[in-house]
Amino acid sequence: MNGVYRELPAWRACRDSADWAGASIGFVPTMGALHAGHEALLKRARAENDRVVLSIFVNPTQFNDPNDLANYPRPLEADLALAAPYVDAVLVPEVADFYRDGYRFRVTESELSRRWEGSHRPGHFDGVLTVVLKLLNVVRPQRAYFGEKDWQQLQLVRGMVEAFLLPVEIIGCPTVRDTDGLALSSRNQRLSLLGRCHAAEFPQTLRNARDAASAAANLKVRGFDVDYVDDYEGVRLAAVRVDGVRLIDNVRLNA
Ligand code: PAF
Repeated sequence: MNGVYRELPAWRACRDSADWAGASIGFVPTMGALHAGHEALLKRARAENDRVVLSIFVNPTQFNDPNDLANYPRPLEADLALAAPYVDAVLVPEVADFYRDGYRFRVTESELSRRWEGSHRPGHFDGVLTVVLKLLNVVRPQRAYFGEKDWQQLQLVRGMVEAFLLPVEIIGCPTVRDTDGLALSSRNQRLSLLGRCHAAEFPQTLRNARDAASAAANLKVRGFDVDYVDDYEGVRLAAVRVDGVRLIDNVRLNA
């Protein structure tokens, strides 16, 4: 790994150096607490680009629950160790640098962002899209990699890139799952042993139900608090709470 950049001028000097001129850059934006799902994104970026940049930034504007933000895991040393074999640079920006406008300027999408996650987490996607735009401007990658687990986020990022004519290719990567089928997520760490076992029933139930309404009913019977289940464009999207932890997932229909 070449370096960890906390300050934007140092990063810009690296990005503009002769060493990076003409190199294709693959970018993996994250909020840290890296797991095998992030590792799959980094591996793919490594295979497809000359340089790989990772960002680790717990973006405050996408949290609508201050406790969630405060409790978000920040294991920086472990993250750097996991990323080291794949990356050339890691950006760990300061909140003050990224939000020097006090969040007066933000990106708002007015349709898809209002559904599902958006209706349960007001303002969440304004925060996501705004920080992704900032990151893309700072990194200037040819390709950026996002997990399909956050399906709604992926569609919105693609839409923003198209709407603002950004010169970057957005690449969606398949969800990485544990052996019992639970999608990997930084939030899984917060589950108790019992909650973790119970959580495996979430994707199974989504897959096995014949429609969204019966998936929601079956999840309730199995003791999940259901925020939403919906079928949209061949994908079943859902969010539940189990053991006090909110989990989201999606499965392809007829797959
Ligand atoms: O998916 C995430 O980890 C975040 O929403 C992202 C894309 C890094 C923006 O903060």
